[in-house]
Amino acid sequence: MSDSFSIRPLRPSDAPAYRDLRLEALQSSPEAFGSSYEEEAPLSLETIAARTPTSGPNAIFGAFAADVLIGMAGFAVYERLKTRHKGVMWGVFVKPEWRKQRVGQALVRQVIDHASRHVIMLEAAVGLTNESARRTYHGLGFKPYGIERKAIRVSDVFHDEELLYLDLPQPKGA
Ligand SMILES: CC(C)(COP(=O)(O)OP(=O)(O)OC[C@H]1O[C@@H](n2cnc3c(N)ncnc32)[C@H](O)[C@@H]1OP(=O)(O)O)[C@@H](O)C(=O)NCCC(=O)NCCS
Repeated sequence: MSDSFSIRPLRPSDAPAYRDLRLEALQSSPEAFGSSYEEEAPLSLETIAARTPTSGPNAIFGAFAADVLIGMAGFAVYERLKTRHKGVMWGVFVKPEWRKQRVGQALVRQVIDHASRHVIMLEAAVGLTNESARRTYHGLGFKPYGIERKAIRVSDVFHDEELLYLDLPQPKGA
């Protein structure tokens, strides 16, 4: 990893920085996320802090440069008994001025490393025309298994998504 940034799980006390970056992501790349700026902008800091995982397998990882949050990537495990061997990576975003410096790659690596301690399958979905994200995910071993047509609608434009999976080794002792 570059010396210029470091990665750690976000805590409830990171809520102000997390909200700013999340809203920047939703506003600047609406086609890349299922959530929308309109839905999340009204959320209070208390709600956001309460949603920040503090225990269990779910996590939001933040990339920090000189204590400023410059990127993030989330991980969540499916909850039901028959699906909780699978997790999903969500909300991957790097501030524009920090792109192409391997921050995204480091965040996704961190999610993979963390996921491999909890699940045997990691899923992700990426816009079919989102070359930077596709290249990042494919480069770290994610494989396409299908295309969801019209997965995201932004205003009157529909966006297809490539569905991806990454097989992970069975965690020790599982
Ligand atoms: C996708 C995103 C997180 C990548 O972050 P990043 O820090 O720029 O990525 P990295 O610097 O780690 O680059 C990883 C790979 O992607 C490639 N890449 C990065 N930006 C690229 C671009 N604009 N076009 C083509 N390839 C690109 C890099 O060359 C590298 O590939 P390589 O290993 O083959 O050289 C960032 O572009 C982003 O936040 N985009 C907007 C939000 C988004 O689309 N999120 C994904 C939702 S699924």
